[in-house]
Amino acid sequence: MKGYYSEGQWIDWIDALADRDYVSIDNFLPDEVLHQVKTMLKEQLKVDHFKDAGIGSVFNNLKEPSIRSDKTFWLDRQRDQNISGYFEMVEELIQKLNRYCFLSLSGFEFHLAHYPEGTFYKRHLDSFSDRSNRMISMIIYLNQNWQKGDGGELVIYKGNDAITIEPLENRCVIFKSQELEHEVLTSKKDRFSVTGWLLHQPSGVGFILG
Ligand code: OGA
Ligand code: NI
Repeated sequence: MKGYYSEGQWIDWIDALADRDYVSIDNFLPDEVLHQVKTMLKEQLKVDHFKDAGIGSVFNNLKEPSIRSDKTFWLDRQRDQNISGYFEMVEELIQKLNRYCFLSLSGFEFHLAHYPEGTFYKRHLDSFSDRSNRMISMIIYLNQNWQKGDGGELVIYKGNDAITIEPLENRCVIFKSQELEHEVLTSKKDRFSVTGWLLHQPSGVGFILG
């Protein structure tokens, strides 16, 4: 999927990210790639490989259900060849950010996330105090037919503003991990996403986190 978007399109998105610290892009993944990711999600739900998510880095990965109650399944570039189109899109984004934002990103870690009914993630920052190499957060929602009232909106806090983003299928939200606090409001229905971080250095250990 390399070269799916024009250079000008990438520059517009990256300019928006640089100016406002976040950008939201609708219909981001090509149909074929979205399909690959949704197939992977269905398979992993069936075999029940999702685990309760933690709130720290691998050095200090506490489970704290009063802060966060979603479940995650960590992805692996080598193992998960059936979503290679997805990883290629991520690599292309990294290449553009390095070129236009001088960011020196050199790795990434992604998981599938499942917020069952009644779950949430309270206001937080994505970078850890003991491992601060998460530079950019990237979320793509996988909720076909999300409706108002279903909950699970992402709220981004920026200065005095609270920006609410509905988790619509194939909407991609990219933001600066160390700048923007955000939260996931209580979901009233199953809510799915592929979520991850572009790293200053590869950690290679995300997949052993819960
Ligand atoms: C996270 C997170 C937001 C979302 O996983 O750190 O904030 O909308 N996710 O799923
Ligand atoms: Ni977060």
